[in-house]
Amino acid sequence: MGAIGQPVDRRDGPAKITGAARYAAEFTVPGVVHAVLVQSTIAAGSVVGIDTAAAMAMPGVLLVVTPDNALRLKQQKATAQTVAAPTLQDRSVSYSGQHVAVVVADTLDRALDAAAHVDVRYAPGAAVALMDQALDRATTPKQFRGGARPPDSRRGDPDAAFGFAPLQVAQRYATSVEHHNPMEPHATIARWDGDALTVWTATQGIGGAQKTLATLFGLEPERVRVICPFVGGGFGSKGNCWPPAILAAMAAKMVGRPVKLVLTRKQMYTSNGYRPRTIQTVRLGAHPDGTLTALRHDGVTQMSKGDFGEYSEPTGLASEMLYAVPNNAVSHRLVAVNQGFPTYMRAPGEAPGVFALESAMDELAYQAKLDPLELRLRNYADMDEHDDKPFSSKKLGECYARGAALFGWSKRSMAPRSMRDGRTLVGWGMATATYPMNRMPAKARVRLDAQGHVLVQTGSQDIGTGTYTVLAQVAAEALGIPVEQVRVELGDSSFPPAPVSGGSMTVASVGPAVLAACRKVRDAVLAAAAARWQPVTPEQLVLDRMVVTGPAGRVPAAELMPAGFVEAVGEAKPGDEKKHASLHSFGAQFCEVRVDPDLGEIRVSRFVGAFDAGRVMNAKTARSQAIGGIVYGIGMALLEETVVDRNLARIVNPNVSEYLLPVNADIPDIQTILLDDADAMSNPLGARGLGELPMVGAAAAVANAVFHATAKRVRELPIRIEDVMA
Ligand code: MOS
Repeated sequence: MGAIGQPVDRRDGPAKITGAARYAAEFTVPGVVHAVLVQSTIAAGSVVGIDTAAAMAMPGVLLVVTPDNALRLKQQKATAQTVAAPTLQDRSVSYSGQHVAVVVADTLDRALDAAAHVDVRYAPGAAVALMDQALDRATTPKQFRGGARPPDSRRGDPDAAFGFAPLQVAQRYATSVEHHNPMEPHATIARWDGDALTVWTATQGIGGAQKTLATLFGLEPERVRVICPFVGGGFGSKGNCWPPAILAAMAAKMVGRPVKLVLTRKQMYTSNGYRPRTIQTVRLGAHPDGTLTALRHDGVTQMSKGDFGEYSEPTGLASEMLYAVPNNAVSHRLVAVNQGFPTYMRAPGEAPGVFALESAMDELAYQAKLDPLELRLRNYADMDEHDDKPFSSKKLGECYARGAALFGWSKRSMAPRSMRDGRTLVGWGMATATYPMNRMPAKARVRLDAQGHVLVQTGSQDIGTGTYTVLAQVAAEALGIPVEQVRVELGDSSFPPAPVSGGSMTVASVGPAVLAACRKVRDAVLAAAAARWQPVTPEQLVLDRMVVTGPAGRVPAAELMPAGFVEAVGEAKPGDEKKHASLHSFGAQFCEVRVDPDLGEIRVSRFVGAFDAGRVMNAKTARSQAIGGIVYGIGMALLEETVVDRNLARIVNPNVSEYLLPVNADIPDIQTILLDDADAMSNPLGARGLGELPMVGAAAAVANAVFHATAKRVRELPIRIEDVMA
């Protein structure tokens, strides 16, 4: 049996649990000095003066960077996907916590102390704290999806169809600002050697960081080396090259020493994005039998003030294709507020968008007096009606059936408040999951030596998902080598380039590049064997466990490597599959909650997720992603909310004690089913990616279970005790 699919243990596990794995802040760079950020205490206005004399007079202080003395960067071009956040280039302030100065000293303690003595004077302006205060000022995105498509879409006439529909749902749903909260804070060490820059930085994309830093400092990309062998989680927050990394490089250049800048947990709430708040209106029209005639999904999401680019949370995209419905429209709007810059967070768009859609579907099920799963089946989309294309592969029906069977869904009684365990209210809810298949070009280098050891190098990164492990499995299977003999090196921009670890695309992008490199290596060995055995052709030969076997006999591969090794760089990129098909993953989420009828305490007591994400590359890391996604969804449903003071426009819970994250006691036994059905159109490995899909729909399944338990329909997340108390 090949290595792909096996539940291979995480290769980076031992290094992580013994502390041997080095994260960005942990590299030893001789002569390093320490930088500390000074952050704005106002949310709008400008800095009118910064007195640095007291700080500069303190022991060990080397430099205070302010908007007055900061290096002028080459203009960072904002795109729809990359926000060019403020980097001390002017005195304007657009949110509380914006960086207004950087103090550099010989020790961290001295830098912290001096930072407290930088005297910043402000001219405060009027701030819009919350999106809800400015909904009348919504604007249309200018660069939705990077300009790849318009922010609105329509087929048929949903408004007319809605008016005629015997069954109608029209409701407003809202989700809160959420922060990613990876365990590892953002950290950068920057060192200049002449005009060459090396940064050790916590990032999901070493290639993007290299390009951004090269652009800002006016360097050729080859002059910037980005190193990041381990990442302690990112969830989207480490996708862009954010200001702290840029400011560390700037300070290092100004002070002429290597500089280390590590964010505090509190600074993690103001320096690297967040999931924006959403307010969404979903309207569903249906025949009495529950079949949809109209679907309209209008989403408004929060954006930051200031001329720093645009990020739109694409709340409506799943609503375009998830169900069969002849009349459909979605729209996306933005409201600018004086908060930091939003960004993508695990399943951006789908996570809040499918919460709204699948809550509305549950409401329709009750109007139609239909089991919620039966309603989904009656509206099953056999093709992507938005793209007008067949799905490359869609096993959602099997997800529904197998998930429902494992959960025991058929035993559900329809009426709310009809299931109890003693005095505890029990509720069962379900929802659909979907996430698009993403892929980008990638390259990888593979070396096979005469002893049968394989080295894989690629400029990808393992953000905790299992990239090290899965790429080793790909190489092992392709070269017929035990997986233990494969070493994978990631996280160095001097390796062949690979895309950002985002959009659940790493396996689908980088895996095929490793496969291509392995095939080149194998073909070189086979060609050498064929040359020896003429007229035998390489196609007649097999390389397995370092032996080439063919009609003329067997030869050790080592004898075919005069240099002692064979090495190749492989490249893989998407073809035209998206011209012919719609490539999406799917899943079904089933949740049981228990609610105390007197206290309103909500406990998730069971969860089943069944997912079709194409081929499963590693049964263990895949299950881990599925569980992690569901946990993220439970957090979204019941706990997570960044609270902003409506007067000061300042985050009041920037810490992990008051920003509630799910802990073990909040999470029940989660059962997962992974269909493991290769999608031949998706890429040569047949895997569609699993990082984000399992989060989608999870929050709706919880909210729908809460309705079933309590008869309270809660349309704003997180659901609180007071929402379900009579
Ligand atoms: Mo993910 S939000 O694409 O890092």
